[in-house]
Amino acid sequence: MNSVEVLKEVAAQAAICTKCELQYSRKLAVPGEGPADAEIFFIGEGPGFHENEQGRPFVGAAGQFLEELLASIHLRREQVFITNVVKCRPPGNRDPQTEELAACSDYLERQILAINPRVIVTLGRYSLARFLPNAKISEIHGQAVRVHGRLMVPMYHPAAALHQPSLRSVVEADFARLPEWMAKAGTVPEIPSEPVAQEAQSPEQLSLF
Ligand code: URA
Ligand code: SF4
Repeated sequence: MNSVEVLKEVAAQAAICTKCELQYSRKLAVPGEGPADAEIFFIGEGPGFHENEQGRPFVGAAGQFLEELLASIHLRREQVFITNVVKCRPPGNRDPQTEELAACSDYLERQILAINPRVIVTLGRYSLARFLPNAKISEIHGQAVRVHGRLMVPMYHPAAALHQPSLRSVVEADFARLPEWMAKAGTVPEIPSEPVAQEAQSPEQLSLF
C-alpha cells in the first residue's frame, strides 16, 4: 500500500470504528487531512463541535489561529498534515481518557509511518504525552527534540493561547522558530536517555512509530 492508500484506509476505518466509547459521540470521524508527502505533521487533541459536524480537523476558532500561525511562516494549511490523538469528538469537549487514547493510537501511528514527515509538531499536552509521557509542556515547548530518531517540536495548543492571552506570544514565538529547527534538524540530539528508557519499558509505548 502506498501512503495515499494508507491514509484513505485509516479514514475509512475511523469513520466506522467501534474501538472506544467515543464512537457514541461521533457524528463524523475526523481522521485528519493534508498531503501524503507533508513535511510537517501537526497533532492536536481531539475534534470539537465544528470538527465533528464537518469531519475536518481544526475548523473552529483554534483552527483559524493555527492558520494564522502557519501564514506567519509562509505556509498554508493545505501544505501540512493536521490530525488529532483521538479521531472522534469527546462528549462536551472533555479530555480524552487513557483507554480512548490507547484505542486510537494505531491510526495515528499508521498516519505517521505513511507520511514520514520531517517534523512532528505536538499541539497541547495530550499529543506531547503520547511521545514523552514525562515531559512538561511548560518546560519544553518550542524546543526541538529527537524521539526515536524523529524530530519533534512540542507547542502549546492554539486553543490554550486563545483562552490565555499571555500564551499567545509564546506560541507565536515557538512557531517562528519552526523553520529554523527544520533547517538544522540534523543537529538536534536524541532526548536524554532517562525518559526514553522509561518509555521503552511501558508496553503501550513500544510501537511509537
Ligand atoms: N482542537 C483540536 O485539538 N483539534 C481539532 O481538530 C480542533 C480543535
Ligand atoms: Fe475508534 Fe479512535 Fe473513534 Fe475511538 S476515537 S471510536 S478508537 S476512531
